[in-house]
Formats: sequence, C-alpha cells, structure tokens
Amino acid sequence: MKTIVIANQKGGSGKSTLTVHLAAAAEQAGDGPALLSDTDPQGTAGDWFNQRKRTGLDTPRYAPLDLADLHGRLMALRDAGARYLFIDTAPSIGSVNAELFAKADLILVPLNPTPADLRALVKGLPLIKQSGRPFSFALARVRANLRNNEAAAMALEALGLVLPARMHERVIYAETFAHGKTALEIEPGGIAATEVSALWRAVRARVKESEKGRKRESEKGSIQERETA
Ligand SMILES: Nc1ncnc2c1ncn2[C@@H]1O[C@H](COP(=O)(O)OP(=O)(O)O)[C@@H](O)[C@H]1O
Ligand SMILES: [Mg+2]
Repeated sequence: MKTIVIANQKGGSGKSTLTVHLAAAAEQAGDGPALLSDTDPQGTAGDWFNQRKRTGLDTPRYAPLDLADLHGRLMALRDAGARYLFIDTAPSIGSVNAELFAKADLILVPLNPTPADLRALVKGLPLIKQSGRPFSFALARVRANLRNNEAAAMALEALGLVLPARMHERVIYAETFAHGKTALEIEPGGIAATEVSALWRAVRARVKESEKGRKRESEKGSIQERETA
C-alpha cells in the first residue's frame, strides 16, 4: 500500500478538494482499492464521505486512523488489500503531521501560485523536508492566464519537484462538499474530470519513481557494504 499525505499549513490551499478527487480518480483509473483518511479535526473529507454514502457511491472507502498506533493501523489497511491511502491533514505544523510525514510514500503539497502562498510555504517546508520522505508540489486553484502562475511555478521548481499536471480554479470543484461527489461524477469526461485524471497519473508516476529511486539507493548501499567487507 502506498500512503499519500496531502499537506500544506495554509488553510484554503485546496488540500481536502485535492484529496477526495485523487482518491476518486485512483478508483476510476482501476488503481483501487483506494482509501481516504482525515486527520483534520474540521473533518472536511470525513463529512464528504458521509454525504457520498447517501448518494449511493461507496468508493473510495473511508478509513479512520488511530494516531496512537499509526504503524499498526497502516499495516492492517495494507493487509486488508488497500493499494493507495490518501490522508487529508489539518493546516498546522504540529507533531501529528510530522508523524504522518514519516509514514508517507509521497507528501503532496497543493499550493495556489500566489506570492502569499509561496511565502507561507517557506514556514511549512522545513518540517516536510526533515521527514526525509519524497514530496511534490501540486499547483491547485490555478486561475487561468495569470502571469503569476509561471513565475510561481519557476520559484517552486527551485524548492522541489512540481507535478506536471495542475488543478484549476473551477466552480465544479467548489461543489465537491455540497453533495459528496467529485468532478469525475458531476461531469464525466469534462475538462475538470480530465485534469483530475491527469493529476492522478502524475501522482502515481511520482510515487513509482521515488520508490525506484529508493531501491537504487539501497542496492548501491548493499554493493558498497559488500565491497568494503
Ligand atoms: N480548484 C478549486 N476550484 C474552485 N474552488 C476550490 C478549488 N479547490 C478548493 N476550492 C474551494 O476552496 C475552499 C477551500 O478548499 P479546501 O479544499 O477545503 O482547502 P483546505 O483543505 O486546504 O483548507 C473550499 O470552499 C473549496 O470548495
Ligand atoms: Mg481541508
């Protein structure tokens, strides 16, 4: 099971919207079972799941996390057959998020390409980097044709990898928490559904690349150990 933690200490950056869309897109792409967890006391993603059940949709499934035994809980979800776990987080730089980062196969940081969001990132990024886990930025709530967008993307490239797919600011995403649906079901094949699918493919590729990178590193390590033995 691959664990993807969606985090940005700035509220309103689009974490919860991105989390539920990625989990739904993973299911739609045949990459399920995908699970959704929410560690934000505000419970946006959890509420979304409850609304979704009422619409008759039952994937992605919701998995409550036991933070007192995070490792045990993740192992149990893996053993139950989950392939991807998407964890929505609170907008804070607290110890809970540090524990989650340590378990992440990928930390995904959604970010509006604005100077204010870039400045806020400077405060949150050290904790992410301290975890030593792979992380990527995802441009979210992008307003089309703003000159800022490309400047922000370039500034971000200097700080870490930026996913090649973006989530734009669209009315259809703002509906997400009204009825427990995603753009994938509201308008199948629409422009938002298409970009969400592309975003999921980019995330999936990034998870695979970083896994390969880690394998290469550990192979290099064991060759060096043998050579020095
Ligand atoms: N791409 C988007 N387009 C339009 N509205 C969005 C988009 N992403 C988020 N929103 C809206 O912005 C608000 C904050 O988004 P949310 O995902 O809850 O952010 P966070 O979890 O980071 O606080 C919500 O009202 C949501 O509907
Ligand atoms: Mg949220």
